[in-house]
This record gives sequence, structure tokens and C-alpha cells, in this order.
Amino acid sequence: MKRKKKINIAIDGYSSTGKSTLAKDIAKALNYIYIDTGAMYRAVTLFALENKFIGKNFFDKEKLIRALDRIDISFKHNSKTGKSETYLNGKNVEKQIRDMHVSEYVSQVAEIPEVREKLVKLQQKIARQKGVVMDGRDIGTVVMPDAELKIFMTASPEIRARRRWEELKQKGMNIPYEQVKENVVHRDHIDTTRKHSPLTRTKDAILIDNTHLSREEQLEKVLQLVENLTTTE
Ligand code: DC
Repeated sequence: MKRKKKINIAIDGYSSTGKSTLAKDIAKALNYIYIDTGAMYRAVTLFALENKFIGKNFFDKEKLIRALDRIDISFKHNSKTGKSETYLNGKNVEKQIRDMHVSEYVSQVAEIPEVREKLVKLQQKIARQKGVVMDGRDIGTVVMPDAELKIFMTASPEIRARRRWEELKQKGMNIPYEQVKENVVHRDHIDTTRKHSPLTRTKDAILIDNTHLSREEQLEKVLQLVENLTTTE
């Protein structure tokens, strides 16, 4: 008889490549748990902004590091929307963490080793249960180096900026396209060149360039890979 075993799936890639859309689709199709690690870095950034540790032309890293113990991040399922939402110290911050303002500062916060150490520990604890789809920048390299399936996503900067611009517009945020593109390119640079856990494609990661792929095509591709890995006689 054919049995299905649960595996862990690591999805890494550039910003706005649709990692979270694909990860959510996979989790739904397989009844797995989806963890958005970018949301965790965004929540820490929001905390830093609210406490004025970071802002235009200043960043008091030491203060943020000292305050890390006061940051509690969790996810809760919203039964109305059917989506998982991010909580910072008990407060729902799902909408706030997607603001352009947070996007502008998040890469600087994600560069701090102490921040990464805290969040990686939390992510690894969640991954122990198996049946987890996690997306981010260091999932296949640092968080789940043993993940049975690793995906690396990319797409042209123009298409990524266009997607992000449309997403922001739908949320009522009218940011010029050029500004969104600059932010995408700038984050690519910081994410790939930073000293700690830079975004890199491991040899065992399967590349998906979705510049010309539909959402359904991407999901189908991954589900096929999962099928090959999980079906045991
Ligand atoms: O996926 P995202 O755009 O929400 O991620 C926000 C930022 O957090 C991005 O600039 C890179 C950083 N990040 C990271 O360094 N490591 C992760 N595992 C996830 C995100």
C-alpha cells in the first residue's frame, strides 16, 4: 500500500518572487503548516521603529539587541479569512508589517546576527514537527539544511517590482513604481551581500524562475516533486 510521509520544504529566493504565495498554496494542498519567516523579521523591524531604535539616518543596534528578550512573535490562524496572521507581543500586526515603511528598514534589521539567532531558534523549533513549508532567505542553508525539498525562486526585477506595486495598490497604497523597484533592487543587494546568512542557492535547491510561470504551474511542479519524495511502497 502507498503511504505518505511528511517532509519539510524550504523555499528561498529574492524578494517579491511570490515565495509566500507558492508556500501557502503548497501548505494548503498538502495540509502542511506554513511559516512566513520574513514576517518575523518584519515584526522585529516594527518593534524597532515603534521604540525609535531605527529611523531615517539612525539605527541604535545595541538598544535593539538589548530589547530582544522583550519581543514575542507568534502566528495565529484567523478562522474568518482562513489565513495565519502575525502577532507581536500579543498584538495583531499582520497589516502593519507589510507597510512600505517597514520594508524600507527590514534588511538592516535582518543583518544583525543576534536578531537572526533569535528567529532561527524559533523557526527550528517549529520545523521539528515536520510537514512544514517555510519561506525566507536562509531556510535551505541555515534554518532547515536537512529539508527534504529545497526550492530557490527567482524572477526578473521588473516583474517583481510590478507585482509588489500592484499588491500595494490593492491595499490602497499609491507608491510610485520606480520607488518600489528601487526598494526591490536595494533589498536584493543587501540580502545577497550581507555577512551573516546571505541569500544563496545551495547545490541541492531546485530553481524556479517564475517570470513566465503561472501560479498553478508553479504549484503543479512542486507537488510533483513532493509526490516523488513522499510516496513509499
Ligand atoms: O520575504 P520578505 O520580503 O517579507 O522579507 C523581509 C526581509 O527580511 C527581507 O529584506 C530579507 C529578510 N529575511 C531574511 O533575512 N531571512 C529570512 N529568512 C526571511 C527574510
